[in-house]
Amino acid sequence: MAAPIGRRSSYASQVLRPRGSRIVVAIFFGILLGCILAALYPRGLFYSGSHFQSRRLSKSNLQIGSTSCESTEIVNILKLHIQDFSNTNEELKKQIKDLKEKLQAVEQTNSQAEQQVVGVGEPQKVGPFGTVKGIRTNPTIIPNESVNPRLAKILEKVTIKNELIVSLANSKVKPMLEVWVSSIKKLGIHNYLVVALDDGIVDFCKENRVQFYTRDPDEDIDSVGKTGGNHEVSGLKFIILKEFLQMGYSVLLSDVDIVYIQNPFEHIYRDSDVESMSDGHDSMTAYGYTDVFDDPAMGWARYVHTMRIWVYNSGFFYLRPTLAAIELLDRVADRLSHEPYAWDQAVFNEELFFPSYPGYIGLHVSKRTMDRYLFMNSKVLFKEVRKDDDLKKLKPVIVHVNYNPDKLLRMKAVVVFYINGKQDAFDLFPDGSD
Ligand SMILES: *[C@@H]1O[C@H](CO)[C@@H](O)[C@H](O)[C@H]1NC(C)=O
Repeated sequence: MAAPIGRRSSYASQVLRPRGSRIVVAIFFGILLGCILAALYPRGLFYSGSHFQSRRLSKSNLQIGSTSCESTEIVNILKLHIQDFSNTNEELKKQIKDLKEKLQAVEQTNSQAEQQVVGVGEPQKVGPFGTVKGIRTNPTIIPNESVNPRLAKILEKVTIKNELIVSLANSKVKPMLEVWVSSIKKLGIHNYLVVALDDGIVDFCKENRVQFYTRDPDEDIDSVGKTGGNHEVSGLKFIILKEFLQMGYSVLLSDVDIVYIQNPFEHIYRDSDVESMSDGHDSMTAYGYTDVFDDPAMGWARYVHTMRIWVYNSGFFYLRPTLAAIELLDRVADRLSHEPYAWDQAVFNEELFFPSYPGYIGLHVSKRTMDRYLFMNSKVLFKEVRKDDDLKKLKPVIVHVNYNPDKLLRMKAVVVFYINGKQDAFDLFPDGSD
């Protein structure tokens, strides 16, 4: 209470002073107030239209009108007002900050990627040089069995440690499926499932006691499966696999032109969203290298380094049930449904490898290239391995006859060579096609 009384008494004495000095003081005061306001509200007093601001201001004006002319007191009072204004400013800043945080929170819940960042995002310590490691292995999703309860029941029985081999087949590939199944059975692998796309395959699976799954008849994509050629079926697999992952299972997708020689689950790293075999034919093309582009017209800057890697094979890859892996399937399936002439393997690789750039958000997916001798494509086998006495002694995990047209014959030759041990099994085949 002391201060207001003090002010009032000095107001009384002020009335007795000569008029001139009062006017000078008033002008000085006005200018000073103007400067303060300009500093505190550079965008104008009524810019935001805030009730809060104008209320505080009118109160201040009243108080200023009743102050004394004594210079020390003016300074003190001004200090008080400045304090008052900056308090107001702090409060406003705090309110704006709160609003910004709320807005950000709303934006984050709209974005799966942001949610994932929140999920992973404990602040991390950084170790000394040579020891720093980024996050490789994304968290798995929360399994949701109601995505496909019928499939969920099958998977409960078939999977081991939440993982399995999945292959799609229609009657066109039945002879290859026979070789595929028998090589898997010989290894004692039980966690595999055939997605039967027509009745011929359903019958085959029943006769051979192979676990199978059929799509619901009202699924519109089924027409693709029944009548489709190789590429159309390839597109279908991305749609179907999504459900496996959504229900929390890891999937080793396998084409049928593959012979199993060892159990692949003993050779999977499980540290990446996507682990895939490569179409590369040597260590450079499979694992990546720098290729130098030459533009002589540029003189001093004629050499440009480029990053190169041969595509991943979309006929044999392992996916963990993570958001990134599911997003990959989602993106590929979506593009294939809109680009009827796109090749699924090209789309698969573009989504995997192209980074974000203006106007495009790339997939943030972790990937691992499988060992090219363990997960062997038929170019490596026929151009290199079968001609090299040391490499011939290697025992691959699988051989994928992806590079050659006479697939069934070569699959059988792979069985004869690696499983029956006949060293001349490949002798009649050319490296490529005739
Ligand atoms: C689970 O899947 C069903 C069917 O797709 C969906 O309606 C539901 O929202 C999902 N639940 C969760 C928790 O994701």
